[in-house]
Amino acid sequence: MDRHGRLLQLFSYLLLSARLFIHTYSDEDFIRQPPRQLILTSHHGKDSDPQQVHISLVGKDHMKISWVTSHEHVKSMVEYGKTPGIYEASATGEHTSYQYFLYRSGKIHHVTIGPLDPKTTYYYRCGGSGPEFKLRTPPSAFPIEFVVAGDLGQTEWTASTLTHIGAKDYDVLLLPGDLSYADAQQPLWDSFGRLVEPYASQRPWMVTQGNHEIESFPIIFPRGFKAFNSRWQMPYQQSGSKSNLYYSFDVSGAHIIMLGSYTDFDANSDQYKWLRADLAKVDKSKTPWTIVLIHAPWYSSNTAHKGEGESMRLAMEEMLYTAGIDIVFAGHVHAYERFTRVYDKKADQCGPVHVTIGDGGNREGLAMLFEKPRPSISVYREASFGHGRLRILNQTHAHWSWQRNNDSNSFAADEVWLSSLSYSHACCKNSSFECTPLTTQNDEL
Ligand SMILES: [Fe+2]
Repeated sequence: MDRHGRLLQLFSYLLLSARLFIHTYSDEDFIRQPPRQLILTSHHGKDSDPQQVHISLVGKDHMKISWVTSHEHVKSMVEYGKTPGIYEASATGEHTSYQYFLYRSGKIHHVTIGPLDPKTTYYYRCGGSGPEFKLRTPPSAFPIEFVVAGDLGQTEWTASTLTHIGAKDYDVLLLPGDLSYADAQQPLWDSFGRLVEPYASQRPWMVTQGNHEIESFPIIFPRGFKAFNSRWQMPYQQSGSKSNLYYSFDVSGAHIIMLGSYTDFDANSDQYKWLRADLAKVDKSKTPWTIVLIHAPWYSSNTAHKGEGESMRLAMEEMLYTAGIDIVFAGHVHAYERFTRVYDKKADQCGPVHVTIGDGGNREGLAMLFEKPRPSISVYREASFGHGRLRILNQTHAHWSWQRNNDSNSFAADEVWLSSLSYSHACCKNSSFECTPLTTQNDEL
C-alpha cells in the first residue's frame, strides 16, 4: 500500500472512531439477520481512466454522465453515438471535488449529453480516453419498467441484489435513500461507485437521500450531504427545486417526486412550498401516474425505526392525498412491506399504496421483528433481501412485484396489479386533480 493509501486507512479508522458524533439516526435496538461481508471494489485502470460511472435523467431527452478520475487533468467531456466506437457528438460539462477532513476526493465530472432519442442505445466514452460504456434511454411512452431498491450498501447481499436486478431488463432505477453506507469513511463512497458502475452506467439511477448520506459533523460539516451532493447530482433545477435533496422529474407517463426525509419539511420550509407548487403543475392527462419516494417510511409495522417518519407524514400526507399520488416508496427499514391504499392510518381507496423496500443488502442486516398482530392495512411483510419492479403498462394499469434474492429471478414473492387514481372518478371529484375521461374503477383494496 502506498503512502496515500496508508493515510486513507488511518483516517478511515479515526473517522470510524468518531462516528458516535456523526448524525445518522441509526436505531440499534432491534434484532437483525446476520449481515454478509463488505465488498471493497478497487480501481484497476489508469489514473486518467473513468471510474464510478453513473447516469441520471435530465429533462425530457438529456442524460447526465457522472464519473471520477484520480488524474486532475482529465477533461469533463463525453463523446457519444449510436454505433460502438463512432462518436458523432460530444459535450463538455463541469467538475467538482470535495474535502472531508483529510480525505480529498478525485475529480468528479458531470456532463449532460443530448438531445437523445427515446429507447435507444448510445455508446459513450468519458474524458477522451479509456473504456467505452453504453446506456439505453427510457421509452417516451408506456410501457416502462422501474426497478426500486433501497438501503443498498456494499456487501455480498448488495452484490446478490444487483445480480438479480441485472438479470432482467428495466428502464430506470429508483433508490429511496441510503446508498454507500460510507458513514464518513469517504473511500467507501469510491468503492460503492465502482461496485454499482456496471449497472448505473447503463441505466439511469435516480436517487434521493437517506440518513446514511447526512455525514454531518459539529462545526466542521454542520449541513452534511457533502459526498452525496458532490457525487450524485440529481436534476433538481429542472423541477424548480433549490436543493439536490428533493426534486421531481417526468419519464414516459410518470411523474416521480423525490422527497428529502432529512431536510426541512414543515409548512414553512422550502421543500414543503416546492412540493405544493410541483403538485399543482402535474397534468394527469400527460403523466397519469404520480409516484413519491421518501426514506423514512410513513407506514410500517416493523419494530425498527418506529415513528421516525411520523412528523413528515403529518406535515405532507394530506397534500399527497389530495393530489392523487398512486404509490409511495420508502426505505430505511431493512425489510419488505406493502400496505393497501391508505390515508391517515386507515384504508382508503383514494390514498397511495405505501411500500417499504429498504432490503437492498447493506451491512446492518435485516429488520426481523414485525409487530403482532399484523395491522389490517399491511398486506404483505417479510424480512428478506430483494428488490422491487414496477411495470407501468399503460395509463390505467401497472404491475408491482417484489423479487426476493434467494429465489429464482422469475419468482415474485409478492405482486399486485394497481390502477391509476387518475381514472378514478370516486377519488378525483374531491381532490385537487382533474378527472380524466375514462371511467375505470379497479380497486386493489
Ligand atoms: Fe436509513
